[in-house]
Amino acid sequence: MQTVFSGIQPSGMLTLGNYLGALKHFPPMQESSDCYFCIVDQHAITVPQDRLALRENIRSLTALYIAVGIDPKKSTLFIQSEVPAHAQLGWMMQCVAYIGELERMTQFKDKSTGKEAVSASLLTYPPLMAADILLYQTNVVPVGEDQKQHLELTRNLAERFNNKYNDIFTVPEVQIPKVGARIMSLDDPHKKMSKSDANAKSYISMLDDAKTIEKKIKSAVTDTEGTIRFDREEKPAVSNLLSIFSLCSHRSIEELEQAYEGIGYGHFKADLAEVVVATLAPIRERYEELIQSSELDAILDEGANKASRAAAKTLAKAERAMGLGRKRK
Ligand code: TYM
Repeated sequence: MQTVFSGIQPSGMLTLGNYLGALKHFPPMQESSDCYFCIVDQHAITVPQDRLALRENIRSLTALYIAVGIDPKKSTLFIQSEVPAHAQLGWMMQCVAYIGELERMTQFKDKSTGKEAVSASLLTYPPLMAADILLYQTNVVPVGEDQKQHLELTRNLAERFNNKYNDIFTVPEVQIPKVGARIMSLDDPHKKMSKSDANAKSYISMLDDAKTIEKKIKSAVTDTEGTIRFDREEKPAVSNLLSIFSLCSHRSIEELEQAYEGIGYGHFKADLAEVVVATLAPIRERYEELIQSSELDAILDEGANKASRAAAKTLAKAERAMGLGRKRK
């Protein structure tokens, strides 16, 4: 059975981009794989976080994972900081990584350029991410396109470690969806849809209500051409809306192009809002029930125990390979 690992930062309410690029693809994988889904709170603190807000976001992300269909009986759902092996292997991975390759990461460049004080952890973020994945001998990592470079680095670090010390780690494959791997902002189709965007109209939050979703889609930028066709270069805004429509309606892009031939943007946007609302409404309902319930703590306790047991095995092997600690009989 193959092992799947993915992680999401609890750094604010997730967007439709997080859902279509990542979360949506997790539940079907539970049926045939050993799945680990992680709330990566140690990654979240690479930028300043309010203590109380972080706690709330951790709880809310736990509820969201379950609301989209993660079944804690099938998958291991846990918080990164509750399994210390992540930080331990993360340190070892930092010792294998080169500063030059970390400085080349686009996410590091984006988050650090122009800032006066940049935490060291922003640079060493990818070795911790590599540790997350490698601890579970992961075969497949489902993520959106923005994580591709981090996954390439993870593969390089795993191979470098295996060659230098001992063949300990499985080298993981990245899995990026064909449509929706990079959902763009509603007010600027050249920017990724992101929860940290200052303009709340630029993203749809997974918990937005119907009215808010309708308003945001109505005000989404399009172009002056007036035809609905997929062309990322010439029509990036409409192409983004078509991708969202396709993923939320399970209709192909070609089918949508045909269905909306000769129809104006207003009508198209109204129908798009309807399918987005229909996609997110059941998730929101389930979320509201879960967030009130007391079962989340028990699920996270059990997840941390299961993950700790699996992670301890790989950590011990990696420590032995590097010569850390004492020789054990
Ligand atoms: P994070 O928390 O930024 O995003 C979580 C997941 O959502 C995807 N995503 C998107 N997909 C499509 N369109 C978008 N606009 C969009 N925005 C976000 C991301 O690609 C991601 O899959 N470094 C990771 C967290 C992490 C991780 C890991 C992931 C830590 N350790 C190990 C996988 C395996 C991150 O910051 O994701």
